Amino acid sequence: MSTVQKTRAGDSSRLSQNALFGMGNPLLDICAVVDKDFLDKYGLKPNDQILADEKHKALFEEMAKKSKVEYHAGGSTQNSVKIAQWMIQEPHKVATFFGCIGTDHFGEILKQKAAEAHVDAHYYEQSEQPTGTCAACITGDNRSLIANLAAANCYKKEKHLDLDSNWGLVEKARVYYIAGFFLTVSPDSIMKVAKHACEHNKIFGLNLSAPFISQFFKEPLMNVMPYVDILFGNETEAATFAKEQGFETDDIAEIARRVQLLPKVNKNRPRIVVFTQGKDDTVATVGEKVTMFPVIDIDQNEIVDTNGAGDAFVGGFLSELVQEKSLEQCIRAGHYAANIIIQRSGCTFPEKPDFQ
Ligand SMILES: Nc1ncnc2c1ncn2[C@@H]1O[C@H](COP(=O)(O)OP(=O)(O)O)[C@@H](O)[C@H]1O
Ligand SMILES: *[C@@H]1O[C@H](CO)[C@@H](O)[C@H](O)[C@H]1NC(C)=O
Ligand SMILES: *[C@@H]1O[C@H](CO)[C@@H](O)[C@H](O)[C@H]1NC(C)=O
Ligand SMILES: *[C@@H]1O[C@H](CO)[C@@H](O)[C@H](O)[C@H]1NC(C)=O
Repeated sequence: MSTVQKTRAGDSSRLSQNALFGMGNPLLDICAVVDKDFLDKYGLKPNDQILADEKHKALFEEMAKKSKVEYHAGGSTQNSVKIAQWMIQEPHKVATFFGCIGTDHFGEILKQKAAEAHVDAHYYEQSEQPTGTCAACITGDNRSLIANLAAANCYKKEKHLDLDSNWGLVEKARVYYIAGFFLTVSPDSIMKVAKHACEHNKIFGLNLSAPFISQFFKEPLMNVMPYVDILFGNETEAATFAKEQGFETDDIAEIARRVQLLPKVNKNRPRIVVFTQGKDDTVATVGEKVTMFPVIDIDQNEIVDTNGAGDAFVGGFLSELVQEKSLEQCIRAGHYAANIIIQRSGCTFPEKPDFQ
């Protein structure tokens, strides 16, 4: 190995705790194998992704009683920072995570799961709403996902982010990442973090997360956009954003270029735009330059479950970004993490990464 190629341990030793900050909707993922009667009882399709309503009330407790139930720390942003921490391995607690949970049993499990993933999670705990959950009801190769945001919707800037002990952790970070979903919960928290990053010439990343964010949360989204140093999204989300902004193009490279040119406060860093396209090349733009990065080729029969591929991509990307690596290396790490996750069921990963 040449001297330029440092070992992983050598690389990460430059990393300090809390260097990567994430904030979002924490969900406890509850996975269990169920039968057709269970799906019918709750009116579920074998392959689906829905938000919970009244008729799903008892579902989560019933899942928890299954003999082989598995729990994971979930939610889009928490997944991404968890994967970043997994890629980094040492030291522990490079990733910080803030979000809101309930003072209940599921909340206790979530805290334990975040700790097992070596993420430094500091939750705002309140007793009005229960901890958010996402049930994965598995039948054969099919999975039906039912999400209940509950407490995740209750994050309050004044009650948590503003507290000195918490804000101190924000100040320790160099890279910030928030999924667009959180714009529906606490846009003022997002603005405070984004402005802090900007004032200290640190990196603030945002994910478009879903088409409905560009459609129905346009105002908070465009308020934060001038502070966004790195914008993530997939092709569908990019297309919806372009349509909503009146770009009048569906060419993904052109959309990336236009997003890159949107007003930006911190002129020291040109905005980077990264759009993934499933099995097709990832598009990234810095300045005038649009580059296509091929994903890791995989026999499509090897794919078990593409859920969480986007979150994993972001996690891999952030793990190198926080080590000040090149854009190319960040994207390689993103593709690596996504490639691992799509070959497994749910957003799980092996003990250690094998990425150089
Ligand atoms: N069919 C696939 N073949 C190979 N890689 C894939 C495939 N689907 C997803 N990936 C990997 O996951 C990344 C994100 O996938 P994408 O489908 O854009 O995210 P999401 O659907 O979660 O928003 C891709 O850039 C790629 O690395
Ligand atoms: C999986 O879902 C498909 C339809 O989405 C169905 O045809 C198939 O029978 C299901 N498999 C199992 C094991 O439930
Ligand atoms: C992109 O993400 C959206 C959710 O925001 C999802 O519905 C869609 O299938 C994804 N598109 C691709 C091509 O993976
Ligand atoms: C976030 O960005 C990734 C990568 O660009 C994308 O695939 C994904 O759909 C976006 N949304 C979420 C929730 O990860």
